[in-house]
Amino acid sequence: MLSCKAHPPSISLVYRLHGNPSIEPPCSPIYTPPSHIFSSPSIIFSFGYAESIFFLFYFYAVMELGLVSKDTNWWVFTLPAFLGSGNLLDGYVLGSLLIAFACASLFAWGFAVGGIAWKNRRNERGRVSIPGARGLPIFGSLLTLTRGLAHRSLASMAVSRGATQLMAFSLGSTPVVVASDPHTAREILASPHFADRPIKQSAKSLMFSRAIGFAPNGAHWRLLRRIASSHLFAPKRIAAHEAGRQLDCAAMLCSIADEQALHGAVCLRKHLQAAALNNIMGSVFGKRYDPTHDSNELNELRAMVKEGFELLGAFNWSDYLPWLSYFYDPFRINERCSKLVPRVRKLVRGIIQEHRLGESSRLSDNSDFVDVLLSLDGEEKLHEDDMVAVLWEMIFRGTDTTALLTEWVMAELVLHPEVQTKLQTELDMMVMNKSVTDADVAKLPYLQAVVKEALRVHPPGPLLSWARLSTSDVQLSNGMLVPTNTTAMVNMWAITHDPKIWPNPSEFNPERFLESAGGADVDVRGSDLRLAPFGAGRRVCPGKNLGLVTVSLWVAKLVHHFRWIQDVAHPVDLTEVLKLSCEMKSPLHAVAVRRNGSALE
Ligand code: HEM
Repeated sequence: MLSCKAHPPSISLVYRLHGNPSIEPPCSPIYTPPSHIFSSPSIIFSFGYAESIFFLFYFYAVMELGLVSKDTNWWVFTLPAFLGSGNLLDGYVLGSLLIAFACASLFAWGFAVGGIAWKNRRNERGRVSIPGARGLPIFGSLLTLTRGLAHRSLASMAVSRGATQLMAFSLGSTPVVVASDPHTAREILASPHFADRPIKQSAKSLMFSRAIGFAPNGAHWRLLRRIASSHLFAPKRIAAHEAGRQLDCAAMLCSIADEQALHGAVCLRKHLQAAALNNIMGSVFGKRYDPTHDSNELNELRAMVKEGFELLGAFNWSDYLPWLSYFYDPFRINERCSKLVPRVRKLVRGIIQEHRLGESSRLSDNSDFVDVLLSLDGEEKLHEDDMVAVLWEMIFRGTDTTALLTEWVMAELVLHPEVQTKLQTELDMMVMNKSVTDADVAKLPYLQAVVKEALRVHPPGPLLSWARLSTSDVQLSNGMLVPTNTTAMVNMWAITHDPKIWPNPSEFNPERFLESAGGADVDVRGSDLRLAPFGAGRRVCPGKNLGLVTVSLWVAKLVHHFRWIQDVAHPVDLTEVLKLSCEMKSPLHAVAVRRNGSALE
């Protein structure tokens, strides 16, 4: 900013906007255009078309090319004055300036290996430079990420450039690195200098910056993590909520049997989503919905969760090119977020209020998360808006991941009847005709191998969903240096599909995780970066144990009670779609044939 008191920020521009061409020289060589310049579309209309274009180029040059970072570049401050003169109406001058700026930006882009955000040899600050993908001028690799499946495109880009350890690229003006190798991935995820996350506009608008996942690394985030780990995700809490998992699964099995009887086949997704939503509502809010009685509130909740998923999962171009929001906002993200937030607040505050009015404030192992948050005192006490954000985030994370991972497992079991038979044999031998429990699941190695193999072939967060942000320059052991303020991604999909790490990576083969079959018992919870679908390091997924227990129990029960067969009308299609998580593009349909006469529980 123009930081002198005598010359308040943006004074030259303000003068220009009011038609006064007089210009004061700036007191500081560093100039950042004030945000209101961009937040007011009227600026475009108060000028002529040619001036507006010039203005955009001017700011593009100022912001993107770092033209004002040196004392010698004082001259850019004369441009607004120049704008006020009649010279600009001269087409020749305007044309020359436009060409000059276009050339300058092309020049900067042409020499930046990772695209425009890596200008000034940002990628060469370490002993070894970071190889990169240049992408397009201005946009960088945005098109690569918006078209098709980003994890697959990035994986092949990294291989073709010999950049699997680390590849630099630009998303608009954001510098990004992606690691497609377990060693570099470990260094990034475990480093305390990568414990922040870049926050998307939609996440900020939906209050997630106050919740665990997007809170900046600091005291507030540590407090939230500690509360969640010692209450919601503590082993004894997870065990105490088993009854709820069983209840929700039993309801799901019954509705599957009903649909099968009615239609001769089942579309599994809606059953899984309903069970997952009710389950997380049970552990977080202590509230379960009965679709026959609570249809209004349940429908509102479902609609809100769906809308939130869409908004968070949508690729928002303006996150990387803020000026674009005035021209191109196909998802109307800001408008939709501001409509959703009051609905979320109303629902969650209502539930908090019900708890406040409830009879007992004593905590037990079976208490829900709202009880836990309300019981906090002193420095730990949370503001009500923080509580709303944390609770809302849990609903989000808990519903989506559990349901879609179970769907992937079941799809692979339908496609691999021999694997399904082995799993059923294991279940029949260990559990026989009784109801499967968490304790049984812990003793079923083949079931665990099946879930791990599904996590390997279909990691729900192939780019680990939420990226990290470097808070200082980070020197990696391979000699590369990741500069501060760089967004870092780990391409877990590329790692789990690397034939050097996993022979025949596209093959669904649970035996690779069975020690008895010559495989390796890999820990998927973040200690082995060859398969870390829950991330690693201090921001590793805190819900990993809850997620694994739930998915394993539900798969066991689905397979114990039914034989799952291809539905000829809807063959299994493993095509992926990458939203907030990586889902099956076409929901799984299958024929569910009852296996044993035991009650569906
Ligand atoms: C199959 C299930 C799940 C998968 C594959 C999964 C995956 C992930 C991944 C990849 C991350 C980012 C980790 C990193 O940056 O290193 C994450 C973060 C997170 N997950 Fe999960 N997750 C699952 C289940 C859950 C559940 C059930 C919950 C809660 C109910 C949950 C809550 C969170 C939260 C709050 C974070 C943010 C942590 C932080 O930034 O400190 N997840 N998850």
